[in-house]
Amino acid sequence: MKTTRAWQLGVKDFLIMSGSRQRPHLKRPVWIIVLVTFVIIFLVTAYVYPPTSSAACYIFSSRDCTLYNRPPAFPSRELSDDETISHVVIREILKTPPIQSKNSKIAFLFLTLGTLPFEPLWDMFFRGHEDRFSVYVHASREKPVHKSHYFIGRDIHSETVVWGKISMVDAERRLLAHSLLDPDNQHFVLLSESCVPLHNFDYVYNYLMLTNVSFIDCFTDLGPHGTGRYSEHMMPEVEKNNFRKGSQWFSMKRQHAIIVMADSLYYTKFRLYCKPNMDGRNCYADEHYLPTFFNMIDPGGIANRSVTYVDWSEGKWHPRSFRAQDITFEFLKNLTSMEDSIHFTSDPKRRVITGPCLWNTMKRPCYLFARKFYPETLDRLMIHFSNYTTV
Ligand SMILES: *[C@@H]1O[C@H](CO)[C@@H](O)[C@H](O)[C@H]1NC(C)=O
Ligand SMILES: *[C@@H]1O[C@H](CO)[C@@H](O)[C@H](O)[C@H]1NC(C)=O
Ligand SMILES: *[C@@H]1O[C@H](CO)[C@@H](O)[C@H](O)[C@H]1NC(C)=O
Ligand SMILES: *[C@@H]1O[C@H](CO)[C@@H](O)[C@H](O)[C@H]1NC(C)=O
Repeated sequence: MKTTRAWQLGVKDFLIMSGSRQRPHLKRPVWIIVLVTFVIIFLVTAYVYPPTSSAACYIFSSRDCTLYNRPPAFPSRELSDDETISHVVIREILKTPPIQSKNSKIAFLFLTLGTLPFEPLWDMFFRGHEDRFSVYVHASREKPVHKSHYFIGRDIHSETVVWGKISMVDAERRLLAHSLLDPDNQHFVLLSESCVPLHNFDYVYNYLMLTNVSFIDCFTDLGPHGTGRYSEHMMPEVEKNNFRKGSQWFSMKRQHAIIVMADSLYYTKFRLYCKPNMDGRNCYADEHYLPTFFNMIDPGGIANRSVTYVDWSEGKWHPRSFRAQDITFEFLKNLTSMEDSIHFTSDPKRRVITGPCLWNTMKRPCYLFARKFYPETLDRLMIHFSNYTTV
C-alpha cells in the first residue's frame, strides 16, 4: 500500500518522504546516502536530457528561457551576427502562423526539362477541383508543349538546371517564390515530369492540408553517400552531426516555404561547400540542404519522409523507372497502400531504416505521388486511374 503511494507521488514528495519520520527503520546515514544519490542522478539526468518545456527550463536552466517556445535548439556557442539575425527571423516566422485564406490551395510545382508526358493524367486528377490548386512549371531545357489547359500559361521564368548542382535548389526556390505570390497557396508540392498521382484529389488535398507538418524527407546516413559528403567548411553553423540526407521531392507548408525564402546563411553554406567533385567528394545540395536545414531549425515541424514514392531497392545510382508492362492494377494498389517508409543507407552494414508512416499520429498510407515512370506508361495509368485512386 505504502509502496504504491510512493510510486504515485512526484519527485518532490519522494524527496520529502525519504527524509521524513515515516521511514524510522532507515538509519540516518543510510537515508542521507539515498538522498544524495538520488539528487545526483536527478541532476545528471536533467543535464543529459535538457528540459524541453518552458516551465522546466525556468526551473533548471541558466539559459535564456524565452527561446523555448518551440525549437530551434540554439547552439550554446557565441553566434555570429548573421546567425543571430537568421535565428530571429526563423523564430518569428515559426511563431506567426500564416493567415488562413478562405480559399486555401495547393501549389503543384513541376520541375521539368521540357514537356510533361503525364499532363493528360494530371488533367484527370485536377478536373472538378479548379478552385483548390494552382500549377507552376519550371522547364529548364526547352519550352514545354502543353496539352491540358491547367498547364497552359503556367510556365515561370527558368534557368538551366544541372543535375546534382546548386542550380537544382535554385530552381526549387524559384518555384516557391513564384507560387508564394498567390496568398491562397498554403501547401507546396515539388514534382517532376516523371511523377504521377497515386490518390484522387480530395484525398491528396485533405492529407496535406489537415496537418501541420511539412513532408520533408530526412534521415541520418553515416556512410559515404550521407555524412561522408559533409565538409568541415560548413562549420561552425552546420556541424557534422547536424548533416542529414533526404529525397528532394518535398511538400511544405507556407510558413516553411517563407523560411526557405528568408534563408541565405545556410543556403550559402551549401552553395559553396556542398557540390559535386569538391575535395575528392561529391555532395549534392538538393539531397542535403533542406533535410539538414529543417532538422536544425524545426525538427518537430517535418515528417522526416517524402510523400513521393521512389524505388531505390536496386541500389543503383538512379532509382528504378517503371515501364508499361509494370503497370497493373495490383502494382498500383501496392503503391497506394504502403504504410512503412524505407530509407536505404550507405554505411558499411547497408542499414535499412524502416518505420510506420504516421499522419497526425495515426498510421496512414505513405505516398500520394510516385516516380519514376516512362512516358509509355501513360495509357495504362489512365485506364486504371479512377480504379486505383478510389480509397
Ligand atoms: C495545427 O495548428 C493549429 C494552430 O496551432 C491548431 O489549431 C490545429 O489544431 C493543428 N492541427 C492539427 C491537425 O494538429
Ligand atoms: C523528425 O525527426 C526529428 C529528429 O530526429 C524528431 O525530433 C521529430 O519529432 C521527427 N518528426 C516527426 C513528425 O516525428
Ligand atoms: C505487391 O506487394 C507484395 C508485398 O510487398 C508483393 O509480394 C507483390 O509482388 C507486389 N505485387 C506487385 C504487382 O507489385
Ligand atoms: C477495378 O479493379 C478491380 C480489381 O482488379 C476489378 O475487378 C475491376 O473490374 C476494376 N474496375 C475497372 C472499372 O477497371
